[in-house]
Amino acid sequence: MKNRIKITIATFVIVITSAATMNSCKTPDSIAAKSGAQLWGENCNRCHNAPDPHTFSDDQWDAAVEHMHQKAILTDAEAKKIVDFLKTAN
Ligand code: HEC
Repeated sequence: MKNRIKITIATFVIVITSAATMNSCKTPDSIAAKSGAQLWGENCNRCHNAPDPHTFSDDQWDAAVEHMHQKAILTDAEAKKIVDFLKTAN
């Protein structure tokens, strides 16, 4: 009976510590620290002039960034920040 409680506690400790150290799904700090405006400036003028945020409507930005997401090989987190920035600047 006592051993069973020990095993249960040990299992609990392992589950908690592995949950605390598993952070592979987190956005890397280098991206998290950058704003949408910064990412837009760094990425969207590599192949052409970075388009002015006022150029398109929100829906058009969704479509354009979805397209450039693949071309510019952006992560999901980067594309989301850039599109949010472009929409708020409208
Ligand atoms: C790897 C090069 C590359 C990068 C980086 C890039 N673009 Fe483009 N972009 C293109 C090309 C090439 C076109 C011309 C259309 C085509 O052939 O797909 C284009 C066209 C566009 C257009 C015209 C509409 C459209 O969808 O075709 C918009 C708007 C645009 N880019 C926005 C952006 C934004 C915003 C970013 C930053 C997230 C970006 N681009 C980054 C290559 C790039």
